Amino acid sequence: MKKIIINGGNKLSGTINIGGAKNSAVALIPAAILSDENTTIYNVPNITDKKALINILETLNCNVTDEKDSLIIDSSKLENVYIKEDLSSKLRASYYFMGALLGKCKHVEIALPGGCNIGKSSRPINFHLKGFEQLGATITIEDDKYIIHADELKGSKIYLDFPSVGATINIMLAAVKAKGKTVIYNAAKEPEIVNIATFLNNMGAKITGAGTSEIKITGVDYLHKGIIEVIPDRIEAATYIIAGALIGDNLKINGVIEEHLESLLSKFDEMGIKYNIKDFELTISAAEKIKHTSIKSQVFPGFVTDMGQPMCVLLTQANGVSFFEETIYDNRMGHVKYLNNMGANIEVKDNTEIICGKTEYKGKKVKATDLRAGAAMVLAGLIAEGQTEISNVEHILRGYENIIEKLSNVGADIKIEE
Ligand code: EPZ
Repeated sequence: MKKIIINGGNKLSGTINIGGAKNSAVALIPAAILSDENTTIYNVPNITDKKALINILETLNCNVTDEKDSLIIDSSKLENVYIKEDLSSKLRASYYFMGALLGKCKHVEIALPGGCNIGKSSRPINFHLKGFEQLGATITIEDDKYIIHADELKGSKIYLDFPSVGATINIMLAAVKAKGKTVIYNAAKEPEIVNIATFLNNMGAKITGAGTSEIKITGVDYLHKGIIEVIPDRIEAATYIIAGALIGDNLKINGVIEEHLESLLSKFDEMGIKYNIKDFELTISAAEKIKHTSIKSQVFPGFVTDMGQPMCVLLTQANGVSFFEETIYDNRMGHVKYLNNMGANIEVKDNTEIICGKTEYKGKKVKATDLRAGAAMVLAGLIAEGQTEISNVEHILRGYENIIEKLSNVGADIKIEE
């Protein structure tokens, strides 16, 4: 098992370049198979999730050329085979192959998806399946695999009980070649949805309204070659911006889109944390005094749940009592126990962190319980006195490309050990 070792206290200065968004790339790669020709995806992040998805593409007899940060995918000779558990369990986003294969072949057989252990144990996909059924598919579960089949896919009006990111994208993938018009009401509005819709439209799909809560899709018969560039990863950016607020010395984060970070930056304003944004580069230094505040995670454009765990470390540096209420997942507090082991004073009540600052962290042996909890461990390690050792780092490498290089390049004393 790999471990990350950090000796805390080094100021961070220099430039960190933000990579392509994980939560976009993991949907764009499955979406590529909808093309009846081939596609190119630029700015693909170098994360382990990418490799897991390429494995699935190759199982489906797609030809993939991996040119470091761009992928050329030829899906013209796709073979619609059963996607086995060893492939689909590597990441939750493997479920996007449900929508893509249903949309393209009207049939998919896939083992149950995997991914982070946050939220209800299985992180349900009921909204996805309901959308597929409304498009005319029948779903059966046979010894741990989904068999989803439609003789014909017909456009439908689909109302989402919750603006689910995954369900919104998966229904879009299933609907682009359905007969007639589909409308998704109460759709998720995250920037990644727009990225996927743009990719599909570049292939000849007819999607309007992506980024709003009402997405309209008119089915087409053929999807030609398409290209797309993955948008910058707003969660990776937030993580390094928070590192800058903790221990930066004119740390530059390059490749940020301000509109994607408004909820974070408005909280920085409330907390008295100074930063400067020019074009796509944000510059930030460690804040002297940080005012405590209250935050509640919401769907976009509210405060992003994925930024909650890294943000918790910053709240422990504020003077006074801060609150962070998690409203999207019912179990996204895996970081609290380990931050408290390192010296924090955080109590959890009704999915709300009650955070008493200011904490002086001491380096300890800690564990990454999930992707963003792992990011919180790294941030605490960067400011802790002494050495922090983080295990289960596979979670972190799934979503943060080249995190060791990016942080050591700006002065952190951080390394990875087998
Ligand atoms: C995406 O997950 C992201 N993952 C998550 O980021 C992010 O936290 C989440 O959206 C919310 O923004 C990817 O894009 C790969 P949801 P997703 O469907 O699509 C419940 C990270 O840290 N729900 O919007 O799974 C669900 O249990 C990851 O990068 C149902 O009940 O999120 C959760 O409580 C973590 N039934 C809530 O809705 C469903 O059918 C939000 O889920 C689907 C979801």
